[in-house]
Amino acid sequence: MNVKSSEVTPKEVYLSRRRFVLQAGLLFGSLAVTGTAYRWFFEPESKPAPRGTPLNFIRTKPQLMADEHLTSYEKVTGYNNFYEFSTYKQAVAKRARQMKVRPWTVVVGGLVARPKIFDIDEIIRLAPLEERIYRMRCVEGWSMVIPWIGFPLKALLDKVEPLSTARYVEFESLYDPEVMPNQRQGLWGSLLNWPYREGLRLDEAMHPLTILAVGLYGEMLLPQNGAPLRVVVPWKYGFKSAKSIVKITLRSDRPQTTWNLAQPREYGFYANVNPAVSHPRWSQQTERRIGEFWRRPTLLFNGYAEQVAHLYSGMDLKTNF
Ligand code: MTE
Repeated sequence: MNVKSSEVTPKEVYLSRRRFVLQAGLLFGSLAVTGTAYRWFFEPESKPAPRGTPLNFIRTKPQLMADEHLTSYEKVTGYNNFYEFSTYKQAVAKRARQMKVRPWTVVVGGLVARPKIFDIDEIIRLAPLEERIYRMRCVEGWSMVIPWIGFPLKALLDKVEPLSTARYVEFESLYDPEVMPNQRQGLWGSLLNWPYREGLRLDEAMHPLTILAVGLYGEMLLPQNGAPLRVVVPWKYGFKSAKSIVKITLRSDRPQTTWNLAQPREYGFYANVNPAVSHPRWSQQTERRIGEFWRRPTLLFNGYAEQVAHLYSGMDLKTNF
């Protein structure tokens, strides 16, 4: 082939074009990486969660220490554990947005005289809604103060009339792999044993501090906090407070619970907050209150010892952890 010398790209032009292509490639490559990293770290939090529907409720006096304050709405609704959606706390709110919380029914049965399938809006009207400002302690070592809206779980259990043989209450969260990505089978199987299950002894479930929450900060729960219905047990580690409940069963035997099944040495059935009982991999003596700089000492039964310690009298809390 004959190529005129005028048609040949001069070496310097060719080299500078090559440098340009290389530099542009590097620039776009690094922009893409930075963009992905930026989205990964910041985007889930950059859009605040949509505010929920307002609820009518009775205000109660918070039982907090003078130096304790409510955790901000943004943190309560933007820093969540809801493993069905993500193990990355800041990503839960965005991923959970797709979850439909109406229509929603809750099957309440097992060892009861009057088993019943409740519609969520019937549950909301079952008892007067109260504000309960509770400190919540996660087993991972962080804590929040949350103004829940709800009513005692006892009000619902009384409606179905537990039999004398009932000794435990089991809670089952929603199973819907179409909206909950982590419930789908991955290459390495599933993250946890789904649906998420938790349980309480009947006397713990009937305790006046144990509530069914339908809202927080005066509004209906958003999906990331366990809409439309979740249990809240403030003297136990957060994992006992099952979210998005679809089934409540009264039983004579102790229910199998998700975290206990996954790691029995690390997550006991009782899971009472106790600074004297370490998690096998870390101490539970202090906690990071979200929004604060200094760690706080963790209190026995999360500060509710006066109300709940009698439930465990005579029990060794080290073996019944
Ligand atoms: N319930 C379900 N169904 N799935 C979960 O992953 N996480 C638990 C608990 N309930 C969890 C759940 C844990 S570990 C904690 S600390 C609390 O929910 C967190 O509740 P919050 O996001 O409303 O603060």
